[in-house]
Amino acid sequence: MARTSTTWLEIDQVHCGDAPALIEQIAPESIALSVWSPPYHVGKKYEEENTFGDWQQLLQKTIAAHHRVLKKGGFLVVNIADIQCFKDESIPKIQAPNVALLKSPVTREDVLRAKEEHPDYNRYQLAALLKCSEQTIDRRLNGNNIRGGKYSTQTRVQLVGHFIDRFAYDAGLYLYDRRIWVKDPTWANSQWHSNSYRSVSEYEDLYVFWKPGETIVDRNRLESREWSTWGSRQVWQFPSVRTNDDHEAKFPLELPRRFIRLLTAEGDTVLDCFMGSGTTAIAALLEGRHFIGIDITPEYVQLARKGIAKALGDVKAQLF
Ligand SMILES: C[S@@+](CC[C@H](N)C(=O)[O-])C[C@H]1O[C@@H](n2cnc3c(N)ncnc32)[C@H](O)[C@@H]1O
Repeated sequence: MARTSTTWLEIDQVHCGDAPALIEQIAPESIALSVWSPPYHVGKKYEEENTFGDWQQLLQKTIAAHHRVLKKGGFLVVNIADIQCFKDESIPKIQAPNVALLKSPVTREDVLRAKEEHPDYNRYQLAALLKCSEQTIDRRLNGNNIRGGKYSTQTRVQLVGHFIDRFAYDAGLYLYDRRIWVKDPTWANSQWHSNSYRSVSEYEDLYVFWKPGETIVDRNRLESREWSTWGSRQVWQFPSVRTNDDHEAKFPLELPRRFIRLLTAEGDTVLDCFMGSGTTAIAALLEGRHFIGIDITPEYVQLARKGIAKALGDVKAQLF
């Protein structure tokens, strides 16, 4: 794309718009590290209109756009929970009566036994015999104890890391590493654990992709204690953000901060194209790096700008 350098997106600013379109406006090979957490397709306000296909397209286009803007030898880090759950009409109805929620103690076996003893009884007579409603007889016989009710759309459980790996590979960015962030268990958000055998979400993946080129390995970036406690370690454990009152899906400052310290040098530029509340920009500033932020939601852009201005004030106060 032919552009003069004056028209590229300004650094140390948050820009409002669609990630893939705005990445096109970033100067080529100017980004040492891009670190972000995309929409997870779990029905948050900023994604409620989108289908799973839209989500895949957004990720594919965003990752493809990175190849031009990353420095040779630079990195893209994607933070995502590999296993996702979302409403999907194509998923078969799940028959899962929860014993604790059953209103009548009559079991399917009770009804089958009564039917065998009284083969001529209709379901009203069976109900009278077993002292329950005829709906209970119907439910036990026809197995229509559908999770969430007969007409509810069921939930698709889908692995997504493989999509991200393929989008990156197709874009010429290669999987370099994968780390795991062990977070607080998300009991409150789980629609699953109380009404099924599924586990709650307790960790997220951190996929690290590399753009071919010279990557300087500088072991002095971290202190030896940092290398042993997290720099060389695959599993990172730190708490989630507990107050999500101004943004519903923030990641903790420690997440981008570690990658910034590990994978960039002072003065480098860090991109977050799903900037949200501005966490990555704040981490970059605190570590003496530049940033470019992008988010499609105007109120989050305002929120990020406010947080960044405060962090800048704190950095200046430390210097003087
Ligand atoms: C998981 S949140 C990121 C939160 C961020 N890491 C933080 O700590 O605050 C995803 C963000 O992507 C933004 N978003 C959704 N679709 C987008 C798009 N097409 N382009 C840019 N941003 C988008 C949402 O507004 C939301 O703030």
